[in-house]
Amino acid sequence: MSEDQWTKIDTYTSNLMVEHDAALDLAAKASAEAGLPEIAVAPNQGKFLHLLARTHGARRILEIGAFGGYSAIWLARALPEGGTLTTLEAEPSFAEVAQRNIDNAGLSDVVDLRVGKALDTLPELAGGEPFDLVFIDADKANIPEYFGWALKLTRPGSVIVVDNVVLDGLVVEADSPNPAVQGVRRFNQLVADEPRVTATTVQTVGSRGHDGFCLMLVES
Ligand code: DHB
Ligand code: MG
Repeated sequence: MSEDQWTKIDTYTSNLMVEHDAALDLAAKASAEAGLPEIAVAPNQGKFLHLLARTHGARRILEIGAFGGYSAIWLARALPEGGTLTTLEAEPSFAEVAQRNIDNAGLSDVVDLRVGKALDTLPELAGGEPFDLVFIDADKANIPEYFGWALKLTRPGSVIVVDNVVLDGLVVEADSPNPAVQGVRRFNQLVADEPRVTATTVQTVGSRGHDGFCLMLVES
C-alpha cells in the first residue's frame, strides 16, 4: 500500500469521525502559512490523543514540543474544568504561531506555553503537582532525556506517550548515523530496562507517513 492510499483512508475515516472546526483548521493553516513543515499530528491522531486524555481523566497534561499548537488544542480540549496543559517549545517562531493558535481556540487560560529548550524549561516544572499525561513530540535525539524528565514529573498511574518512535522504519537500523534514529533506539532500550513503566509501541501509517506511538503506564 502506498502513502497515497494511507492518506485516502485517513481522509475517509476522519471525514466520518473526526470533527474539526475553525480553530483547528486555522491552526493547521496558520502553521503551514508560517512556513512550518507538515509535521504536526494528523487530525485523527490529534483526536486519538484527545480521547486518551479524556479516558484517562487527565487534569494536568505536559506536552514537550508544541510546534504550531495543533496537538495542544486537541489535548487542552480534553481537560476538565480547572485542568491545565503545559506545553514547551524551543523555537520562538514556532511558539509564536502556537500561542496565536491557542489564543484563537480560546484556550489561553488553560494552556501555559513556555518558550525555550525543553531541557532548560523542564527543571522549572520539578516540585510541582505531578502530570497525569505527558506527550513527547519534540526533537528526536533528546527523547531519552525527555523520557527521564517525564518519569520525574509523573506519578504511578500517569500515562506517557511518545510520537515518532518508528521513523519510517529506520528505527531498526542499529548502525544508523541519524541522531533521531539513535535517540529513539536509546529511548527504547531505556524503556526496556525501566521497571517503573509498562510499555508498548504501535506503528502508524497515514497522512503523516509511516511512524509510531509508544504508550507507557507509569507503575511506580
Ligand atoms: C518530524 C517531527 C515530528 O514530530 C513528526 O511527527 C514528524 C516529523 C520532523 O522533525 O521531521
Ligand atoms: Mg511528531
